Amino acid sequence: MRILVTGGCGFIGSHVVRQALMIPNVERVINLDSLTYSGHPQNCSDIYDSRYYFIHGSINDGSLLREIFQTEQISVVLHLAAESHVDRSINSVKPFVETNIEGTRVILESILESKRLGQEIDLIHVSTDEVYGSLAPDDPSFTEQNPLNPRNPYAATKAASDMLVQAFVNTHEISAVITRCSNNYGPNQFPEKLIPLMTINAMNGDNLPVYGDGKQIRDWIHVIDHSNGILCAMLGLKMGRLSTGEVVNFGASNEIENIEIVQKIIQLTNAKESQIKYVKDRPGHDRRYAMGFQKAKKILGWSPEIEWDEGLATTVEWYKENSEWVESITSGKYRDWIKNQYGKTI
Ligand code: NAD
Ligand code: TYD
Repeated sequence: MRILVTGGCGFIGSHVVRQALMIPNVERVINLDSLTYSGHPQNCSDIYDSRYYFIHGSINDGSLLREIFQTEQISVVLHLAAESHVDRSINSVKPFVETNIEGTRVILESILESKRLGQEIDLIHVSTDEVYGSLAPDDPSFTEQNPLNPRNPYAATKAASDMLVQAFVNTHEISAVITRCSNNYGPNQFPEKLIPLMTINAMNGDNLPVYGDGKQIRDWIHVIDHSNGILCAMLGLKMGRLSTGEVVNFGASNEIENIEIVQKIIQLTNAKESQIKYVKDRPGHDRRYAMGFQKAKKILGWSPEIEWDEGLATTVEWYKENSEWVESITSGKYRDWIKNQYGKTI
């Protein structure tokens, strides 16, 4: 297999690159990343493998994609490049439309062009539970049969890209699978998301901004379990266990309220309860996500392996031990974002 990972310098992409290189019959892993604010070359700086190569460029550049497909003889694209933060999509949706929808359109058309020239390329399109909308407290977990019901601009652009993929499968017979996963946590996550933001603020003695009543629920999964799932889907499509056009969900049955996570982080960092600040809620805030992953279990033999308490403790430890990474990421524009998003709260 000769793999192109898009967004490989981001949080999940960097773990996918590392884990893909552990598969013996993988001949090549190309990482295409345009290095937006959330993409960091340091996330891959520990990779010394002659099969790995980084290309600084955008998924929106069709001629670059076609050149990579051809010269590298790519057989599968793991598509993770995206604008990924809900709060940013509330402030400005344009980059989300450009990257998540238009960027996916360019990937699909480039794959189609290669197919017409006789080169078959599988696509694993990495999506999110947020496309299913929000659950009431007693609702069952999402399954792959749930209708799409995105409720924030980020989720809407991801749902649109999922539908484009399915339309290309149906109309042009490209080979693609869509994966949808719950909230990830782990090393290398950009600290605009809940767990790294709270961990870094807790360590620095800063305020911990909890939106609304803090009782929103997410189903937390360690990034390594999600990355394994993406690679299982890739192998499942290659080996015919998954058919083109299928969707597969990943989750970890860790439904936890935000406030409980913040309190756990306070314990793990020896911070103070008084650092918690309840702030204005996120507009249109989804109350609860939970992913059913029976299909992944049955068809791919995949299950999450990292237990929540252990996973959170080692993640907090990673942020404590990687102060250089934290410093390089929390300078400049990051401070502008925090000031703009939280005002004087932090
Ligand atoms: P991230 O923001 O950490 O990384 C995104 C990466 O994409 C960055 O490296 C960025 O530089 C790159 N990128 C952005 N625009 C690009 C472009 N035009 N061309 C090339 N590269 C570009 O995001 P993440 O949390 O690692 O998420 C990765 C994928 O997984 C996304 O598609 C996201 O929707 C999906 N996902 C994320 C989660 C989660 O909890 N983080 C859960 C489910 C699904
Ligand atoms: P986030 O990490 O942004 O992921 P998502 O919006 O994709 O679920 O947020 C996780 C939860 O934490 C969500 O309910 C919003 C909440 N949250 C806060 O309470 N305060 C914060 O500063 C952030 C970033 C998130």
